[in-house]
Amino acid sequence: MATDLRVSLTDKCSLRCGYCMPPEGLDWLPDDQVLSDDELIRLITLAVHELGVEEVRFTGGEPLLRRGLERIVEATAHLRTKTGRAPVTALTTNGVGLDKRARALAAAGLNRINVSLDTLDPERFHRITRRDRHRDVLAGLAAAAAAGLGPVKVNTVLLPGINDDEAVPLVRWALAQGYELRFIEQMPLDAQGAWQREQMVTAHDIQQALAGEFELIPVDARARGASPAQTWTATDGRNTGTVGIIASVTRPFCGDCDRTRLTADGQIRNCLFARDETDLRALLRSGADNAELAQIWRAAMWGKAAGHGINDTSFIQPDRPMSAIGG
Ligand code: GTP
Ligand code: 5AD
Ligand code: SF4
Repeated sequence: MATDLRVSLTDKCSLRCGYCMPPEGLDWLPDDQVLSDDELIRLITLAVHELGVEEVRFTGGEPLLRRGLERIVEATAHLRTKTGRAPVTALTTNGVGLDKRARALAAAGLNRINVSLDTLDPERFHRITRRDRHRDVLAGLAAAAAAGLGPVKVNTVLLPGINDDEAVPLVRWALAQGYELRFIEQMPLDAQGAWQREQMVTAHDIQQALAGEFELIPVDARARGASPAQTWTATDGRNTGTVGIIASVTRPFCGDCDRTRLTADGQIRNCLFARDETDLRALLRSGADNAELAQIWRAAMWGKAAGHGINDTSFIQPDRPMSAIGG
């Protein structure tokens, strides 16, 4: 059964990264279709109390755009798993506005944070995200580390011709700052359907670039649990830290997948690339009790496909883009 629940709190975002959204944004979900804070807390409670979920990660769109975030985190942190522990709470964010909220989030019980940052250069940042918020993201990262939300992870997508020369400087920077940087292979989850395999910087390319500059020692796969990242201990002579690659496309890790996803509009997705969803919102709003909800949720997970199929010729990209799934 899935032990890791990823909850998308909104499909809206403060940035417009091309691998996720078109410049003009998307048709956002109508407010009445988005689960309320109380509805979300009820479903998270059910997942932790009855389905065996041990880690709850909040995603978006951009989860910091959700006003009730601190309240939802706090309610989650107060739950107890089937084994009597508090669930691990985590946030995946673009970091915009995090400088002002990191302390409150830590006080609410947030344990871990992953922040997206693709470049060290403000102009490139604007090219990738179509917004001038590079400085805010750096401030958000620093605030997260100061608030004890560590080890802070940084998610980087390398794009050919834009930032694919930055693998080494980004790792050098992350080692100096004490952040754990993970490169993510670009996946076919953009809203425009423009992903092309030949246009993707692969795990192999990245490993080659890093091997020339850093001493890399593979971290035992068992030590990283079910995290999708393959990790190394990297040293540049001055600093040592962990660096990772999430090779979703060229080295799929579906066999180890322990995730279930709840979208902001209350749909269960048993895979990032699932073509079907299970509508918990309608059930919830029609007065279903916990036993019914749990049964339907479990059934949704049993229907999980064996793999994402990106590498098959028959692969069809899901209708929902990354921003409406939550990554
Ligand atoms: P950690 O436990 O901190 O390692 O979290 P994480 O890496 O799962 O979380 P994060 O939200 O930072 O995700 C980083 C990248 O991994 C995103 O691009 C996700 O879409 C991708 N990812 C996370 N889970 C899955 C998954 O189940 N399948 C695939 N293919 N990619 C995933
Ligand atoms: N492929 C890979 N990663 C993506 N992300 C967003 N869109 C894509 C994509 N098409 C990343 C974001 C964020 C994480 C949740 O997913 O950069 O770090
Ligand atoms: Fe799990 Fe789907 Fe991700 Fe594969 S692609 S690891 S099955 S969520």
